Amino acid sequence: MTEPVSPYGRSFLVEPQARPGAAACKVADPPLGDGLLGDLDKYFDPAHARVEFDRLFARTWLCAGRASDLAKAGDWLRFDIGAESVIVSRQPDGALRAYYNVCHHRGARLVTDDFGHGQRFVCGFHSWTWNLDGSLHRITDRETFDSGTICDNPPLSRVHVDEWGGFVFISMHDDPPPLTAFLDVLPAQLDAYRMQDMVVIADLSVEWEVNWKTALDAFMEGYHIHRRHPEGLGWIDDYHLQHDLFANGHSRMILPVAVKSPRLNDQDSLNDELRAMLSEVGLDPAAFEGRAREVRAAIQRRKPEWARSVGMDYGRYSPSQLTDDWNYFVFPNLTFNLHAEGMLVMRFRPHPRDVERCYYDVMVLAHRVADPHYRLPRYMGAPDVDLSGEVPRPPRARLRHGDASLGMVLDQDAEFVPRVQQGMRSRGFKGIRLSRQERRVRAFYEEYDRYLRDERS
Ligand code: FES
Ligand SMILES: [Fe+2]
Repeated sequence: MTEPVSPYGRSFLVEPQARPGAAACKVADPPLGDGLLGDLDKYFDPAHARVEFDRLFARTWLCAGRASDLAKAGDWLRFDIGAESVIVSRQPDGALRAYYNVCHHRGARLVTDDFGHGQRFVCGFHSWTWNLDGSLHRITDRETFDSGTICDNPPLSRVHVDEWGGFVFISMHDDPPPLTAFLDVLPAQLDAYRMQDMVVIADLSVEWEVNWKTALDAFMEGYHIHRRHPEGLGWIDDYHLQHDLFANGHSRMILPVAVKSPRLNDQDSLNDELRAMLSEVGLDPAAFEGRAREVRAAIQRRKPEWARSVGMDYGRYSPSQLTDDWNYFVFPNLTFNLHAEGMLVMRFRPHPRDVERCYYDVMVLAHRVADPHYRLPRYMGAPDVDLSGEVPRPPRARLRHGDASLGMVLDQDAEFVPRVQQGMRSRGFKGIRLSRQERRVRAFYEEYDRYLRDERS
């Protein structure tokens, strides 16, 4: 019997007409390995987690937060990753500085809040004090120390810091590559979204009983949509995704939105979601009954004009960006679901002590809009926020998994993924078998292994 020819042998294109260099243009697939992913210790073994931290997290660029949370001189934020903690602060000249969040006296953490403002950092134990620029301000009862102990007037230990797209990145590497070199094609590809202009409208951090990679892997493929998120089949084509694998472990998948899944038999009639998408841009759903296949293209044609009517300029977006979910993975632990209107940001952080726990951070960002009646599209599952004028920055909610709903789609993942973490421990499990629909997972682990083998020092 001959095997059916897989359409995954070809690549799906969300904008077949995109020219080389255009944001939607697919990059050629690099060669990837095959076979099972059999090294499962990386999900359970505390010794592996220590090597992982030293060779991966301590050597790459990591997203520490939003630059808008450091708007004024003296603003600072705390970023924890594994057992490390970093303070990023805004200086009077507008530059950012980052330091390890640790006092040089006896090693106490200097700050414990997520955000703060001030000109000095005062340790809560014996009041040693540092200036905003990291220089030492004062040692309490200095005369009681031998001079050799403190003659270096220790400044706070610096960490590299840079900004892109309104995000702050840090690197604990002694000599990291420039952030823009590390990000490779991402800044050019994401330019149209103007992420730096978006405002935070939701901010959650959830403690989750899985290794951070088990959690991340679930967000790197669309293969599970039909089973975990069947409601999405009425308005997402979960099969014809465009996958792009970039340098340095970054990747993207573009999910066509406003189109039915090919898994559904009825490809013609409208459903509530497609009707809502048409209505949201001022198109009459009744005119599309029986023509569900035409909805996505109709929204792409209509949306720039509709956007102008509510005071937004969508002229910079390509057709696919006007409807589809552009999902990026920024190596090693950050994902973006980008829409013309805003974005969902997810970050996966290892737990400081337990390799089988992680922090799953979710932020929703949105563009401000002049029209006070405008609301984000329903399918984004975002909070109902007035985006005109000043948009108040919500406080960060800290939850344990199960404490509160994260929204239906994220709940569906959060509820299921611990079953993967548990099952992978079984003697009966021989290793992970990946399809081409999951090629981003394989590409991630190929880059991950380069770090773990010490080839990315
Ligand atoms: S530990 Fe910070 S001043 Fe003593
Ligand atoms: Fe999911």
